[in-house]
Amino acid sequence: MEKRILRLAGIGCGARTRTYCALAARMPDKYLVVAGADPVAERVERVRETSTRPNSFRTFPGAAELLAEEQLADVAIIGTQDRDHLACALGAMERGYDLLLEKPAATSPGDVRMLQERARELGRRVLVCHVLRYTPLYRSVKNLIEDGSLGRILSAQATEGVGTWHHAHSFVRGHWALTAESSPMILAKACHDLDILAWLFGEPCCAVRSFGGLAFFQHANAPVGAPERCSPDCPVETSCAYSALRYLDERRSWLPLIYDRADSATHEEIREWITRSPWGRCVYRCDNTAVDHQILAMEFVSGATATFTMTAFDKGRRLALFGTRASLRAEYGTGAEPLITVCDHETGAITKHPVERGPEKDAYGHGDGDRGLMEALYEEMSHPDPAAMTTSLDTSVHSHLIAFAAERSRLEQQTVDPRDFTNGA
Ligand SMILES: NC(=O)c1ccc[n+]([C@@H]2O[C@H](COP(=O)([O-])OP(=O)(O)OC[C@H]3O[C@@H](n4cnc5c(N)ncnc54)[C@H](O)[C@@H]3O)[C@@H](O)[C@H]2O)c1
Repeated sequence: MEKRILRLAGIGCGARTRTYCALAARMPDKYLVVAGADPVAERVERVRETSTRPNSFRTFPGAAELLAEEQLADVAIIGTQDRDHLACALGAMERGYDLLLEKPAATSPGDVRMLQERARELGRRVLVCHVLRYTPLYRSVKNLIEDGSLGRILSAQATEGVGTWHHAHSFVRGHWALTAESSPMILAKACHDLDILAWLFGEPCCAVRSFGGLAFFQHANAPVGAPERCSPDCPVETSCAYSALRYLDERRSWLPLIYDRADSATHEEIREWITRSPWGRCVYRCDNTAVDHQILAMEFVSGATATFTMTAFDKGRRLALFGTRASLRAEYGTGAEPLITVCDHETGAITKHPVERGPEKDAYGHGDGDRGLMEALYEEMSHPDPAAMTTSLDTSVHSHLIAFAAERSRLEQQTVDPRDFTNGA
């Protein structure tokens, strides 16, 4: 029997949807990208170009127009910005689509719960893009826990180093700089890490205490004489690690994420774009509210504990698990080769578990998780029980609630139980 092809439609054809559609095009036995919607026509066009059947690809100027049509695909990719996920996801589910839903699923606990309930009522599969669960590294860690190598995990330490340039690009100048207009950074960036911790422990978190704030990317730290926008006239332009003029050369790879003409623009056009784009502003003179450092202490229902540090001032992810039989350390994206080491308490032996590389040359994009997610999506969408998917909305709700609890704890200076969030919270 011929294998059924899963048809995909992209709602919001920005950076994420383009990545997923480009990966889908490399798996033509599984996927066909049939439609795209975005108010910026060039972005829909870029998705159309990746489709293996560009001539029959349907284009729309927005989610509403695509969803006004009869159902065009099996799965809608919801790749709009954080605040728009809810309306697009509800609309697409009502129209009959299963979802590949970018994180965060929604930006308040009540909205996340509402999505979960509606998905259940309609019987829709909703796969949340927690790409880390699909990485070779975290899969291996999960296997080592499940095969008992570590004994019972009593504590964990995790760190996410966002990276200084990445932080400035996304959380000072960029889409997630204003918490009130997007989502708190602990949700926008670290919901992946909280999701991994909840997944590895395999039990609910019952208490979160969090501290943190914005300390560095502020007006008070602006170099003397630095203007509002980066320019060759800035007295520290050549020495400033954050100069927007770096988008012209060593940071050029970041440009396609935010500038539609990045690939075709001339040097002069990019210079001109820097004079008017939000990404041309001095990082010390923006209106950013996102934190640049935050920590969490967490307790799980069995009494196991974990700490998590999110900082702009480190790069990559590090994880330590302390089990009754052995301890484990893992890292990726830090500059070192991704690696897992396990130290057995009884023998003192240290075992190295090299992390399998993906077949693509862009392996390790999100630790190879983007490719892993697209590899898995086909089978995930065939599960008879939507809740059985690796990153189903049901399994992701709790990790979202941990992020909301952390933000409430940070702001209200109290311990918060994520399970206390109810509808409308
Ligand atoms: N899973 C991950 O690891 C990961 C990584 C980065 C970002 N994200 C999340 O993915 C989402 C998208 O991020 P991005 O970097 O691709 O953003 P983006 O800004 O590049 O893309 C969003 C797109 O939505 C479009 N849009 C706006 N209104 C629309 C409408 N009414 N209908 C259709 N399209 C509309 C915009 O024009 C834009 O092209 C965000 O929620 C972000 O938090 C997830």
